[in-house]
Amino acid sequence: MEVSLKEKYKDYFKIGAAFSPPTLIYAKDMIKHHFNSVTCENQMKYECLNGKPGVYNFGPADKIVNFAKENDIAIHGHTFVWHNQVPDYIFENATKESLLNNLREHAKVVKEHYGELPTFDAVNEAIEDKTEAYLRDTKWLNIIGDNYISEVFKVIKEVMPSTELYYNDYNECFPEKRPKIVRMLKEALADGAPISGMGMQSHYNLFWTEFDEIKRSLEEYGALGLKLRISELDVSLYKEKEDPQLKWPNPEYEEKLADYYRRVFEIYREYSELIDCVTFWGVADSDSWLNGFPTPGRRNHPLLFDDKGNPKPAFYAVTDF
Ligand code: GLA
Repeated sequence: MEVSLKEKYKDYFKIGAAFSPPTLIYAKDMIKHHFNSVTCENQMKYECLNGKPGVYNFGPADKIVNFAKENDIAIHGHTFVWHNQVPDYIFENATKESLLNNLREHAKVVKEHYGELPTFDAVNEAIEDKTEAYLRDTKWLNIIGDNYISEVFKVIKEVMPSTELYYNDYNECFPEKRPKIVRMLKEALADGAPISGMGMQSHYNLFWTEFDEIKRSLEEYGALGLKLRISELDVSLYKEKEDPQLKWPNPEYEEKLADYYRRVFEIYREYSELIDCVTFWGVADSDSWLNGFPTPGRRNHPLLFDDKGNPKPAFYAVTDF
């Protein structure tokens, strides 16, 4: 088998993958060989664990967690507070106290089941994309109030004192969004929020090549004293929703993708002291969320391994140093 990613990067950072249980059917050996961190793609989200009041379903997440535990792979929890994939019932007639209490009870059940995981995303995607607005308008914000982010970090930390809690967001390297994320993190930290890390989702595409913005972002988030995770890495082959389906195999695009990955991993290695883990959102191209999103029916090939799980030129680009 080809060189192991986690071995190659052992002096730099952990190498993670996010996936769903079906990936385990074909990729167990490959995951054991290459990755030393896993994230459940969906199965630990609030609505997946606790979609109905009082009813918990740990089955799907357990498949991934048990596999990880058996193979000494770190588990990154994802995610508590978000505007998506959280069941509506927790917001119905909720007050600030009842909502925080619901979150506390939820965190307790998760802890009773898994113990304290080393790291967990406490809040996902709370900053608005539109330049003029700051916090995203969510039920969490409306019910708990302007300082809800710091309140929820405190509640989860009370339940899981030894878990390092992360804030996680996308477009985190964009100059129009990054300053707002930095502002929020500073405000929350000043308010005593127990934030240990910043998750930089890093959903890139081949046409966004502001690599200096990646460096600046690592520097600015790192300067807050936070650990950093590259938390959902992939590189889309398309710029726009309307871009037509590329034919595949496509050596030209394979090469473009390899160059892109080479550049970003050079940066990650340069900043490795700040980075705890680099996690890909998917193992092989066939199970990427970018197949059919945002354009139904359109295939993407954004990862290091092809549909059959074989290493692509991009794989060799990030292991060639
Ligand atoms: C966001 C979330 C992830 C996942 C992806 C799409 O980035 O943080 O949990 O839902 O969108 O798959």
